[in-house]
Amino acid sequence: MKKYGLNELREKYLSFYESKEHLRLPSFSLVPQNDASLLLINAGMAPLKPYFTGKEKPPKSRVTTCQKCIRTPDIERVGKTARHGTFFEMLGNFSFGDYFKHEATRWAWEFVTKELELPVDRIWISIYEDDDEAFDIWTKEVGVAPDHIVRFGKEDNFWEIGTGPCGPCSELYFDRGEKYGCGSPDCKVGCECDRFVEFWNLVFTQFDKDENGNYNKLAHPNIDTGMGLERLAVIMQDVDNIFEVDTIKNIMEAVCKISGKTYKQDEKTDVSLRVITDHIRSGVFLIYDGVQPSNEGRGDVLR
Ligand code: GLY
Repeated sequence: MKKYGLNELREKYLSFYESKEHLRLPSFSLVPQNDASLLLINAGMAPLKPYFTGKEKPPKSRVTTCQKCIRTPDIERVGKTARHGTFFEMLGNFSFGDYFKHEATRWAWEFVTKELELPVDRIWISIYEDDDEAFDIWTKEVGVAPDHIVRFGKEDNFWEIGTGPCGPCSELYFDRGEKYGCGSPDCKVGCECDRFVEFWNLVFTQFDKDENGNYNKLAHPNIDTGMGLERLAVIMQDVDNIFEVDTIKNIMEAVCKISGKTYKQDEKTDVSLRVITDHIRSGVFLIYDGVQPSNEGRGDVLR
């Protein structure tokens, strides 16, 4: 497989979607604007919610971004798994009432198989349990083998975050091989270990969830996709975890230097080095976006 640096991957993705007539926008601030349902921006689509619901007119009906994100629900897993971080960059392509499932699916496949040249037999797809349309597109239009497609329920394959635009989704996984597996005979797509990495989520945004939990059908369906840049870099660079990709390992090396510790000598120390590296990334970007340590809200997350 070809090796790409994290910065190269970001550029490859954004220019690929520019070639599909998307407008490239810079990352928005981590601090949500006019959205009381979120403490911090936690997905590429979050700052774009008004465009999905039709409250505001987007500058173009096709947009692509690389959005800085903070997610803390998995904070206890940071440093222990290969793929969790509280700070990450999310690549996304978005359609506001423009293209839908067919194009989103075809272009995702084109990007991973033609641009990145990921081996087809190691890519797995998940779809929402009753989404036969997605199954047909993946198998008949794109040519994915039916036995590489799995169906999951709402917990895994329905995207919603706070209130606002949401819908069923389809995810791309990469099989990193047995060496990253848990060894269980049941290890397969969806296993919690680090073998099958979910790296790209294609959301077929059809609903707007309100404060009372109602799913209101949107006048025009949209597309929201989210691909974890660091996870993609782990796959392309075939490194153990996100802290070992080219750019992030520089930070960890500095942490080692300051602390006088050596990476890969003791697992407990390694977890600490990875946690500190993760928290430096989150802290720096939060402070850059104007958050100050405090006892409440965003400031408490930073503290
Ligand atoms: N908005 C899709 C995702 O973050 O997975």
